[in-house]
Amino acid sequence: MTSFNDTRHLWALGACLAAVGLVGMVVRREMVPDDFGTKGPYRASALDDIAAQPSLFQADATCHACHASVEHERAGKSHETVSCAHCHGLAVDHVAMARRGAEDPTVTLPPAAEWDGDFLTKADLYISKDRATCLSCHEAVVGMPADFKKIDVALHLEEQGASEPLSRETCFECHGGHDTAP
Ligand code: HEC
Ligand code: HEC
Ligand code: HEC
Ligand code: HEC
Repeated sequence: MTSFNDTRHLWALGACLAAVGLVGMVVRREMVPDDFGTKGPYRASALDDIAAQPSLFQADATCHACHASVEHERAGKSHETVSCAHCHGLAVDHVAMARRGAEDPTVTLPPAAEWDGDFLTKADLYISKDRATCLSCHEAVVGMPADFKKIDVALHLEEQGASEPLSRETCFECHGGHDTAP
């Protein structure tokens, strides 16, 4: 009896830990989804949930249907394969509105926004002459493929004699977004 008295606090601690462990097991059982772990360390049905989301990306052909002049402008040029979305946003609302507008003349299309400088922008449709959009692909950085057309910005602007090398729109003094030929 004396030995139990001496170790009583240890037994109490052990009982507390066992109780916490038991509650933890019950809570875990309740909270972990049934299909967790059947395919890997994740909820297997998450794959179906993600696959069921609508695709926001639209092929350039969707845009060409109404913007034949832009298609023509880019045909055979170096930017032919650069998707419209890179410079104009996902344009999901734009296409939906434009399709309604084609049938109902009272629907007016809102103008494109100015790009807010964020590559993950929430703007549906924008037009930008910001050099940052060009440099996101063309600025020479470590690890780019050797044959990709890239520039050292300061050097390029100096060599080509840009009149306003500090301007945000400087690239457009010589290049267009659709037809890039200087
Ligand atoms: C590399 C960037 C870039 C890509 C890719 C691009 N654009 Fe543009 N786009 C621009 C820029 C920059 C302007 C503004 C031109 C200006 O104001 O002189 C513009 C202007 C426009 C305009 C309004 C003025 C005009 O020229 O008719 C339309 C419409 C347009 N783009 C549609 C498209 C479509 C459709 C695609 C894909 C087939 C596309 N763009 C791909 C950069 C791009
Ligand atoms: C159903 C027809 C239709 C489709 C499809 C369409 N557009 Fe347009 N878009 C228009 C019309 C109409 C305008 C306004 C008049 C114009 O500039 O031709 C316009 C204008 C624009 C402008 C200029 C806006 C401004 O404020 O100057 C851009 C940029 C543009 N569209 C990009 C796109 C892109 C990118 C796609 C493909 C994702 C696309 N459009 C698909 C009909 C369409
Ligand atoms: C999404 C990536 C991307 C963006 C954004 C982009 N470009 Fe390009 N650009 C390309 C690709 C790809 C090529 C073709 C490269 C090649 O053939 O090696 C190219 C080629 C070019 C060329 C070379 C033309 C030639 O025929 O030698 C110039 C100049 C150019 N782009 C300017 C611009 C300008 C100005 C902007 C901004 C309005 C811009 N690019 C935005 C991907 C991009
Ligand atoms: C003052 C005119 C001028 C300005 C401003 C200018 N460029 Fe150029 N760019 C040229 C000329 C001219 C060429 C063709 C040079 C050559 O073929 O050697 C060229 C070529 C390029 C090329 C192709 C390089 C290659 O390896 O073939 C890219 C990419 C490019 N420019 C992007 C840009 C970007 C992005 C900006 C803005 C930061 C810009 N340029 C500003 C005149 C200019």
